[in-house]
Parts: sequence; C-alpha cells; structure tokens
Amino acid sequence: MPALIVGNWKMNGLGEDIAEIAAMAGSGARSVWIAPPFTLVDRAVIVSAGAVKIGGQDCHAKDKGAHTGCVSAAMLADLGATFVIVGHSERRRDNGEGDADVRAKVTAGRSAGLEVILCIGETREQRDAGDTNAVLTAQLAGSLPDEAEGLIIAYEPVWAIGTGLVPTLDDVAAAHAHIRGRLVARYGAAGHGIRILYGGSVTPANAADLLGVADVGGVLVGGASLTAQSLLAIAAAAP
Ligand code: 13P
Repeated sequence: MPALIVGNWKMNGLGEDIAEIAAMAGSGARSVWIAPPFTLVDRAVIVSAGAVKIGGQDCHAKDKGAHTGCVSAAMLADLGATFVIVGHSERRRDNGEGDADVRAKVTAGRSAGLEVILCIGETREQRDAGDTNAVLTAQLAGSLPDEAEGLIIAYEPVWAIGTGLVPTLDDVAAAHAHIRGRLVARYGAAGHGIRILYGGSVTPANAADLLGVADVGGVLVGGASLTAQSLLAIAAAAP
C-alpha cells in the first residue's frame, strides 16, 4: 500500500487557493487527499478531477434536518467528496464532541459511502501522566463503528498539533502498535487491514522519518498541506 498523504486545511482557504489543489492534482502524485473547508469542497472536486480525493473535515451525525449551520455526510457525498475526517481534537475541544458523538459521525459517514478518518490522540497532561495507551484505548472503545470497512485511524497527539513538537519515532511506533492491537482485538483479521495515519507537525523535513516507522500508513498534515509545494514535498518523501 503506498503511503496516504492527507491534507487538512482546517479553517484556511479562499477561492484563490483552489490553484494549490489544481497544482497537486496536476503533479501526478498518487495517494494525496485534501480536506478543504466546506466552502471549497465543490470547486476542489471539480479542479482535482479525481486525481486528488476531496473530503470534509467534519459532518453531522444526521442526514438532514433542523441543524442550522451543519453539513451532513450525504451532502458531502453529493458534492463528490469521497471521505470525511471525524473526531479531530480541535472539534472535540471547540465543539465539545465526545466519543459517542464521534462514533455517530463515523456511522453517518460510512452510511453516505464516504471513507472515514477517525482521529484520536492524547493531550500533553495525559502523556505526562503515563496515560497515553489508556486514552487511546478508551477513545477507540467509544468511537469505533461495527464494521472495519472504509475506516482509517489518524493518531494525532494533541500536543504535537501546530506546535512543531513531534513524538520520538519510538513513541510513534509504540502508539501505532497499541492502536493496531486494539483494532485486531475489535475486528479480528480485518483489523490488520485498517490504515493508521500519524498527524501532528508533519513537514517535508520530518516526513520521511515518520513514514518509515512501522505501521505508519500515511500522514495527516495541517499547516504544511496548504501549498502544493509543501504537500508534494511530503508526498515525495514517502518510501
Ligand atoms: P499540523 O500539521 O498543523 O500540526 O496539524 C495537524 C493536524 O491537526 C491535522 O489534522
């Protein structure tokens, strides 16, 4: 499986930035996915012409209804999006989303035919207290769906996001091994087939090392995904 390079643009990007997605799509790079803000999904799908898969950064747990300002997985699929990120720590922090909410969103995304990137990760305090594995176990127990199909896990230590701090490669390997163990415990053999991404301060400079860690199936990139030059440099670092 070639490494999967996923860009999460967060609340960044105006119409003029579509040119970056067009450049990514035109580069010939494989396995590059971008989650632009909702406002750009439609245009991003058009300019990427399938060469870059486009997804949402969140979705509502319901298909439709009286939920002002929200976007459903069905709406994303309707635009041509093929995946959705759920459970990002910024949504857990800013919007009070818990594991049960995240699980409902995973299910909604799968029902709409989207691949789902489910984000988990510990805070600095949790790591310092030696609770990393316990936190990951609890998040997975509370948010994994019934079926493994179409599921991708992103391990994003909260303290590594946007800080320039990255865990040691041994710590990344340990976390991914722990997650793999939980996935196999939950799904049996199918748990071996679930891709696990690393996210948190990934850059062109550290991507090769991170992508070389056992069981790192790709990266989820924030700040360094905003330009084609930077994201393609990360993609080029994939072994
Ligand atoms: P940064 O790459 O900016 O640290 O963000 C990581 C992230 O949160 C991706 O979802």
